[in-house]
Amino acid sequence: MTDTVVLPMTGALTEADIDPTLDLVDAIDRLRREKNAVILAHYYQEGEIQDLADFVGDSLDLSRKAAATEAEMIVFCGVRFMGEVAKILSPGKTVVIPDAEAGCSLEESCRAETFKAFRDKHPDHIAVTYINCSAEVKALSDVIVTSSNAEIIVNALPKDRPILFAPDRHLGAYVARKTGRDLTLWPGSCIIHEQFSEKELIKLKVRHPQALVAAHPECPDSILAHADHIGSTRGLLDFVLTSDGAEFIIATEPHIIHQMSKAAPHKTFIPAPGADGGCSCADCPFMAKNTLEKIYLAMLNRAPAIAIPEDLRVRALKPLERMLEMSASVPMSSGPKAGTPNAA
Ligand code: 13P
Repeated sequence: MTDTVVLPMTGALTEADIDPTLDLVDAIDRLRREKNAVILAHYYQEGEIQDLADFVGDSLDLSRKAAATEAEMIVFCGVRFMGEVAKILSPGKTVVIPDAEAGCSLEESCRAETFKAFRDKHPDHIAVTYINCSAEVKALSDVIVTSSNAEIIVNALPKDRPILFAPDRHLGAYVARKTGRDLTLWPGSCIIHEQFSEKELIKLKVRHPQALVAAHPECPDSILAHADHIGSTRGLLDFVLTSDGAEFIIATEPHIIHQMSKAAPHKTFIPAPGADGGCSCADCPFMAKNTLEKIYLAMLNRAPAIAIPEDLRVRALKPLERMLEMSASVPMSSGPKAGTPNAA
C-alpha cells in the first residue's frame, strides 16, 4: 500500500442523499464553475465521464495538464496513483478522486519495501519506473516514464549505465527491444492487458482480414507480435484517426473506443478478445469504480482528497519532474482528434 492518505468523507453527503431526479451532468457542471474545478479523465473511463471532462488524455498528457492547471480543485477521474501524481505536481490544489478504492494491479505488484530491496541489490543501476506505481515507489526511483515517453527517456540515459525497469515487465521488454538496452525487469503486469488471447486474436483476424491491430505496450509480446501499431492510449487514438484503415482491433482497455468512435464514426473498432473469445474481461475494474454520482459527491464534499506527507511528495516530485523535462519532444495533445474533445 501507500503512505498517501486519502482523506475520508466524515459527516459528508452520501449517494443516499442525492435527489434521484437530479440531472447529474448539470449539477457537476454547476459545481465545476462554483468551485473553480477542472475535471481530468483518462481514456479508460466510462464514455459519460469522458464526455463531461475538461480534458481527456493519456498518463503523460494528464500529468502535464495537472501540473499546469490554474483551477483550485482537480477532480481526477482515473485511478488513485493518477490523483497522487496530480497532487505531487500541484501541491497547492485540492485533488479529489471519485473513489478512494480505485487502485491498479501494477501498483499493487510493486510494494515500496520490496522495490527498495530490488534497488539495493543493483546499486549501480538507474531505476526507470512506470508511472503506474505508488508515490513511495516513485520516491525511490531515478526517473518516471509513461508508455508515450519510455522509449525516448531510456534512449537518452547514459549508455554505460545499466537500467532497472519496474513494474510492468511487458512494457519493459518492449522498451528493451526498441532501444537495444539491456533492462533488468520487475516481474509485474497489468491484469487487463494480460488477459488478451493470442489464439482468439488470430481467429478474429481471420474473420476480419482487413482489420489493423492497435495494441498498448502493456500487452504481452504474444499480442504485440500481431500489432500494426503499438503505443500509449493517445498514440493508439492518433493511429486509428490518421490511418487509412477502416477497421481496427483494439488491444487495450476498451473504453478508449468511445473516443475513437466519436472522432471517426465511419470506422469500425473491435475490442481484442480474451480467452473466451469475446467477453468484457478487459474492462478495468478499478477505472469502473468511478461514477457520475461519486464525481458529484467528491466535488461537493471536497473528498476523497489526496494528501501526501511533504517529505514524500518532494522525493516523488524529483523523478516526475525529470520525466516532464525529458518528455519535451513529445507534443501535448490538442484538439478533439487527439485528446481534448470537450471544454479545456
Ligand atoms: P497511457 O494512457 O499512458 O497509455 O497508460 C495506460 C494505463 O496504464 C493507465 O493506467
